Amino acid sequence: MYFPVYRPRRLRRTEALRGMIRETELNAKDFIYPLFVVPGTSVRKEISSMPGVFQLSQEELVKEAAAAHALGVPAVILFGIPEEKDAVGSHASRADGVVQRAIEALKRDVPSLVVITDVCLCEYTDHGHCGIIERGDVANDPTLKVLAQEALSHARAGADMVAPSDMMDGRVGAIRHILDEHHFANVPIMAYSAKYASGFYGPFREAAESTPQFGDRRSYQMDPGNGIEALRETRLDIEEGADIVMVKPALSYLDIISAIHAEFDLPVAAYNVSGEYSLVKAAAQKGWIDGDRVMLEILTSIKRAGADLILTYHAKEAAALLRRGA
Ligand code: PBG
Repeated sequence: MYFPVYRPRRLRRTEALRGMIRETELNAKDFIYPLFVVPGTSVRKEISSMPGVFQLSQEELVKEAAAAHALGVPAVILFGIPEEKDAVGSHASRADGVVQRAIEALKRDVPSLVVITDVCLCEYTDHGHCGIIERGDVANDPTLKVLAQEALSHARAGADMVAPSDMMDGRVGAIRHILDEHHFANVPIMAYSAKYASGFYGPFREAAESTPQFGDRRSYQMDPGNGIEALRETRLDIEEGADIVMVKPALSYLDIISAIHAEFDLPVAAYNVSGEYSLVKAAAQKGWIDGDRVMLEILTSIKRAGADLILTYHAKEAAALLRRGA
């Protein structure tokens, strides 16, 4: 089938024809909306490096989540900024913590919304690392116990799913074990399985107030040059009980999404991270790109690569655009 008998342009002639043969189409139900909850009331503080993204106090969080949900977004993932930080992140597991109270409020006011929680310590530690420090580095095994307690407290507050993002070895198993022991066998784990040490997290650290106070995260997050290791990390998480596996960031790691989708039979999530969002917003503000169009193109590429779910700060605006038939 070669030119001039076959002409690929025939099926690109009209939007109706293009629509009929489109392989990948975005849907609001693909999205998980990350939200930042802070203590206090009436707080809606924009992140300077992430226009359109806010630190929200509880009642503002409920409003934002409900608005996204009304547009068809099925789920949110919560990040909490606690009142106080200390060396071991003790506020992470408090029953009256900022995330735990937010979970309760969301489950009460928006019951059909799926509430996922990010399980990590970097927002809760005064040094900003994702675990407990011993001899100048994050100590793996002592951190597991603290993460497991944090995940359990989220489940107790009513979380529908927990998502460990710390990259400690063995954390999926530790969390699965404690949840099962406490009758939360039905709470799934979405594991940040292939999470890279990335410059694209910069704006998030402003939003979550979680910048490491010394060093960086390269001793626990993955090296950007490694692809085969991503398969190994993912396999370990699946063996330990992960229900959904995640690749993060998304855009510079589409090959990893594709490889994991091909290799494993679990749902794959991809995190369209803060820096990916900010690049689009900044260029659009300058008038250099059509922000809406680039946003949808990026999200489509992540889905086309093999992601079943996309965590994205664009969730609400993309869902609104899709509703209008973009
Ligand atoms: C916590 C965590 C981070 C992100 C999600 N969970 C930051 C980090 O690892 O430094 C990044 C999300 C984003 O950039 O949007 N460990």
